[in-house]
Amino acid sequence: MQRTAIYPGSFDPVTNGHIDIAKRGLKLFDRIIIAILHNPGKKSLFTVEERLEMLNESMLGIDNIEFDTFNGLLVDYAQQRKASAILRGMRAVSDFEYEFQLALMNRKLNREVETIFLMTGLRWIFTSSSIIKEAARFGGDIADMVPPGVNQRLKIRFGF
Ligand code: PNS
Repeated sequence: MQRTAIYPGSFDPVTNGHIDIAKRGLKLFDRIIIAILHNPGKKSLFTVEERLEMLNESMLGIDNIEFDTFNGLLVDYAQQRKASAILRGMRAVSDFEYEFQLALMNRKLNREVETIFLMTGLRWIFTSSSIIKEAARFGGDIADMVPPGVNQRLKIRFGF
């Protein structure tokens, strides 16, 4: 039986930390579906289409990864895609409380879907899409934290 995991998130934009988690997740699962939450209520820098494009570009050539969007409950989407697990990256202590809450709520909603955490690679432990956007907004050099195409788009978006 094929083991599929959903790697959900906002990916606004995708970072090297996300790519690291996805690649390592492929050692545990046969297929990973990277799924962007389509949430019109949440303000984002890039549209869902732009985020999908950046994900596609940055993981070109990596087998067994798919990209998709979803709305509604994550566990419902996971079931619909026949995924047995949700994959999440965990950085330092700050992520723990939210991730713990999310995982327990998802387990309460559907006991068939497990959450698997991978510790973020040490290199990426202090990076996040939000802090990268903040630095890029003011012209900070974030070239080694995101794929080249994402760096380019951030520069254009912020007028550098
Ligand atoms: O990268 P993010 O923004 O931290 O990802 C959060 C995400 C998309 C995983 C989470 O908000 C989510 O799963 N939303 C869908 C609605 C849902 O199922 N929420 C959890 C149970 S209430």
